[in-house]
Amino acid sequence: MCGIVGYVGGRPALDVVVDGLARLEYRGYDSAGVAVLAGGRLATAKRAGKLVNLKEALAEEPPPAGTLGMGHTRWATHGPPNDRNAHPHTDCTGTVAVIHNGIIENFAALRAELEDAGHKLRSDTDTEAVAHLLEDELAAVDGNARDGLAEAMRRVCRRLEGAFTLVAVHAGDDDLVVGARRNSPLVVGVGDGENFLASDVAAFIEHTRDAIELGQDQVVELRSGGVTVTDFEGRPAEVTEYHVDWDVSAAEKGGYDYFMLKEIAEQPRAVADTLLGRIGADGRLHLDEMRITDRELREVDKIIIVACGTSYHAGLIAKYAIEHWAGLPCEVELASEFRYRDSILSPTTLVIAISQSGETMDALMAVRHAREQKAKLLGICNVNGSTLPRECDGVLYTHAGPEIAVASTKAFLTQLVAVYLIALYIAQVRGTKWGDEVFAMVQLLERMPEKVDKVLETMEPVRELARSLAGERCVLFLGRHVGFPVALEGALKLKELAYMHAEGFAAGELKHGPIALIEQGLPVVVVVPPRARDVLHDKIVSNIQEIRARGARTIVIAEEGDASVQPYADTLISVPAVPTLLQPLVTTVPLQVFACELATAKGHDVDQPRNLAKSVTVE
Ligand code: G6P
Repeated sequence: MCGIVGYVGGRPALDVVVDGLARLEYRGYDSAGVAVLAGGRLATAKRAGKLVNLKEALAEEPPPAGTLGMGHTRWATHGPPNDRNAHPHTDCTGTVAVIHNGIIENFAALRAELEDAGHKLRSDTDTEAVAHLLEDELAAVDGNARDGLAEAMRRVCRRLEGAFTLVAVHAGDDDLVVGARRNSPLVVGVGDGENFLASDVAAFIEHTRDAIELGQDQVVELRSGGVTVTDFEGRPAEVTEYHVDWDVSAAEKGGYDYFMLKEIAEQPRAVADTLLGRIGADGRLHLDEMRITDRELREVDKIIIVACGTSYHAGLIAKYAIEHWAGLPCEVELASEFRYRDSILSPTTLVIAISQSGETMDALMAVRHAREQKAKLLGICNVNGSTLPRECDGVLYTHAGPEIAVASTKAFLTQLVAVYLIALYIAQVRGTKWGDEVFAMVQLLERMPEKVDKVLETMEPVRELARSLAGERCVLFLGRHVGFPVALEGALKLKELAYMHAEGFAAGELKHGPIALIEQGLPVVVVVPPRARDVLHDKIVSNIQEIRARGARTIVIAEEGDASVQPYADTLISVPAVPTLLQPLVTTVPLQVFACELATAKGHDVDQPRNLAKSVTVE
């Protein structure tokens, strides 16, 4: 979950690399570092903390200008986030520099072996071992040969266990950057007389939109005039080229103070884009990208959803939709837990993995486990060219556009749209709903962008409320049915951004324990289902009364015109009336705004919350 950039071409490498790092900072911001090669001299600079610290250091002491370089922004795994552990790491001679994303699991043994052989390691990282291994292999393979560094990298990679993206440069070749990947992302940007390497296309999108997906266990040699890809044995590898369909403006803040604010505001568009092209003129759903045949779908007898974080909450909501519309049993599992229990899978089980980034290691490992059990695999993903879609039988892309802020917002809403589409599509294929029923729901879905827009227009009171609660220590969230995962998501957002104690509960569980937490003035947010679900609705109104009687300050999110909750709501947040299953699309938005504003009022950087990273590529 670190960010990596490599460059070779005609421009000043430092500028390209630092700009690229700025776009990758969402991947980690514990430290940042660069290496630039100029006139046979390898210069490195690195600083703990955010990229701004490195920039200041570079301004004070600029490295010599060169046209080959690489950079790294770190999310610490091995060793505290200080200057010494920041990447790049160099070998004993200072002529080889390495940056790394992932975890090298056998590093302790490698380190011991290197130290026994006389190497002096200066950091606590697993990465530094690679620099010294490269030093040895370069000596063994003739480091000055044209592909000396690439061959050394292949040899080193064959010895490594775990997950890694590695990028290395050698002072002896000022037209070569070498990259390698196993289980961690790395893409090539193909330019004219210049080429790029990065963890994510956002790093080079300003310069080129032509990219190459690197496969598993591949090594890439990047020169200004071309790109060569091999496997770890040195055999030429087939590569897939693709064109990135969004541009640099999509990855910039567009006048907002934070990416998160921009991404919240983009939600109506993102929801609309995710529906685009999936509804035929005949009103039927067409999800061709799923690459799972109708016959296979009819044979499915169980669905298991695996995901992490906010994506897991989308999975929890999917369960209600799938069971209701498609009539199939559906389990939802945290991806990190899935492969450690004896889940019952068969070729008629459909496993749906939900991941914004498509790179979350827990989700990928869950998918691999399901593959071993011969289940069918469907991904829901936002990032084209990422690993998850490649490892699944089919994929439904959410078209949220780049999501940069660490806390997921627009990706979540589009994941909901994707799971609704899948549930309705399965209902259509299996005939569990009549065609006109599916069509009626699809028409309602098509109206959702306008409803989300309406929510966004009425958020000022929510912002005011958030500011007034900035001094609180704890906020609880309650919901029932699909409102329960929404409550969990509201609490997660507040934890992530405001570093406050926040918990989501199923409102019915209140009486079984959480009600003991209620004390005078405690803010409790309650997500109320539509009045059409009368039993549910009435029960939650009773829950509101119960907590209010015990002194809670109630913040109630209910559909507009719901007068029954008014007497018990200290603050009432009205959202447009929509069917129960679709309600998370409108009730989540105020909770995003609430958490974002409260955290901002506390002076936190909402795009880069402490200790978190957007894409967690380690288990
Ligand atoms: C990290 C992020 C979360 C995100 C989760 C899953 O923990 O901080 O915001 O929900 O990963 O990410 P994914 O890319 O798999 O959806």
